Amino acid sequence: MADVKKYIEEHKDRFIDEIVDLLKIPSVSADPAYKSEVNRCAKHVKQSLIDAGVDFAEICETAGHPIVYGEKIIDPKLPTVLVYGHYDVQPADPIELWTSPPFEPVIKDGYIYARGSADDKGQFYMHVKAFEYMIKTNSLPCNAKFMIEGEEEVGSENLGIFVKANKEKLAADTIVISDTSMISNETPSIAVGLRGLSYMEVEVTGPNRDLHSGLYGGAVGNPINILCNMIASLTDENNHITVKGFYDNVEIVSDEDRAEMAKAPFNQDDYNAELKIKEGFGEKGYSTNERTSIRPTLDVNGIWGGYIGEGAKTVLPSKAYAKISMRLVPGQSSDEITEKFRSHFESIAPDAVRVKVTPHHGGEPFLIPTNFPAYQAASKAMETTFGVTPIPVRGGGSIPITSMFEAELGLKSVLMGFGLATDDIHSPDEHYGIFNYLKGIETIPYFYQYFTEEFGK
Ligand code: BES
Ligand code: MN
Ligand code: MN
Repeated sequence: MADVKKYIEEHKDRFIDEIVDLLKIPSVSADPAYKSEVNRCAKHVKQSLIDAGVDFAEICETAGHPIVYGEKIIDPKLPTVLVYGHYDVQPADPIELWTSPPFEPVIKDGYIYARGSADDKGQFYMHVKAFEYMIKTNSLPCNAKFMIEGEEEVGSENLGIFVKANKEKLAADTIVISDTSMISNETPSIAVGLRGLSYMEVEVTGPNRDLHSGLYGGAVGNPINILCNMIASLTDENNHITVKGFYDNVEIVSDEDRAEMAKAPFNQDDYNAELKIKEGFGEKGYSTNERTSIRPTLDVNGIWGGYIGEGAKTVLPSKAYAKISMRLVPGQSSDEITEKFRSHFESIAPDAVRVKVTPHHGGEPFLIPTNFPAYQAASKAMETTFGVTPIPVRGGGSIPITSMFEAELGLKSVLMGFGLATDDIHSPDEHYGIFNYLKGIETIPYFYQYFTEEFGK
């Protein structure tokens, strides 16, 4: 493995050119207008696996976007690493806030700017290039499988079906995913947890049509006013969530574990300054890091209705809408919380309106213990290349398929991500550090080596 740095040095310009090419494909999974681009991206990913040296690769069609699968089996007696990633990206909106166009990658000050650069093209492609290195230098120590999907950003529903139907094809000894972030480049970390998700759209209907707000206002329930009141009542003065039974099964993290987590470096003033906020906000009794990791939350993601065009229109709208999500922690289940939300939300609606709650995709929380062989291998690999032992931290985001993998394949996923919280994933000007990209390529071969050794014990 001593020559991995040399290999990267010799090939880094090409590695960067290749990720730039991949980032030029607008593989937005949420928007049907990009369907052919998503398909083109799948073909591109398949070809990249072939070029890197898999002995078999295919595009697996689903009811939605295709899954790219590839494998290199060197010896069935050796362990198998399954790499999971996603080639789909979030929509680029609001596009006018990007400094350069989202699908015309720009390299500036050591970062690659483009939609998907950190989430997740730049991250899964590190695995393809690390694999290329191991093939070219004859140092792949075990079998490798790749499953790169095109629907992560829309809930991975068809991947769930695919996994259930292809357990044998996907048989492996561990799953490795690079789709999370680290504390910083100086303080690497590995995610040992992810939050689950429950997401719904609510529709509040008042009168059967938009009304003149002078003729009817004051006497007929305004669905926007009412929706705002209902939303405001979902949290109390301590920012606890009031949905009945919401905290029933929440796993309480011990004071010892909380003290351990509090050791991770963090500066609230820097955090505030970076976000241009005066102070943090959240559940009473918990720190910023706890609020985004071990505690469940409720957020309105969007709210609309009535007149939002130029100027003023006096109208009492017929309908109001909101998209509401809840991040879940161990102990909570997505379906259970969705049901609790639905009945709570219906129960707080005044008779002046009708409400409709429509659930979207969800996902379960995920945890991996640090004594798992794959965690240990990832930790040692990062220690080798960063020079410091990575800190285990719980991530606030969600990768719903991790709990599916556990249930269906009996495998925990190790979340060896190389991004940073400041990469602006899902936001305008998403970027990924060239340092992070190359560091990932350097680290991954060690992961394979240590996992194979660890596994043989
Ligand atoms: N890669 C992210 C999840 C993530 C990012 C986890 C950083 C931890 C740290 C993933 O692509 C994502 O955006 N997931 C969605 C959920 C999905 C169902 C749309 C999320 O967390 O909102
Ligand atoms: Mn992702
Ligand atoms: Mn994402």
